[in-house]
Amino acid sequence: MAETLIIPQNSTKTEKYNAIIPQIKAITDAETDLIANLANVVAILKETFNFFWVGFYMVKENQLVLAPFQGTLACTRIPFHKGVCGACYRSRATLIVPNVDEFADHIACSSASKSEIVVPVLSKNEVVAVLDVDSDVLDDFDEADKEGLEKIIEIVGKLF
Ligand code: SME
Repeated sequence: MAETLIIPQNSTKTEKYNAIIPQIKAITDAETDLIANLANVVAILKETFNFFWVGFYMVKENQLVLAPFQGTLACTRIPFHKGVCGACYRSRATLIVPNVDEFADHIACSSASKSEIVVPVLSKNEVVAVLDVDSDVLDDFDEADKEGLEKIIEIVGKLF
């Protein structure tokens, strides 16, 4: 397995997503352990975009439970009816929150977090996890992130 990530410098977000997607596919194809693969996916996202916080919450015991992540200490359990992550679970759709202070139900794991994108991971038509990405900058996520992360999450869903 290639252990060095190739990330094009001075390129757009879309170009970066397009560069890492085949690498994520190759790395996860070479390993059968789910947690090992999720850990590498968040490591790749952190290394490529230097996100403030990026990680998975997995559906377990009727709630969302913290799984591999990179960033600061985080809430470990999120009920389905709470937070941006819970809203993403319920809607089964990607949610972009430009200003977390304006999202009534936002769960502040870190006061530094300003904007957020959450993408549902589907396997056999069930939401099995969500990918949560937080930024310490307002309005940091756009359609390019949505498209890129959804492509990555399509690969991730097949690992479950
Ligand atoms: N802000 C999320 C909780 C998870 S942390 O950001 C890591 C939410 O409102 O669901």
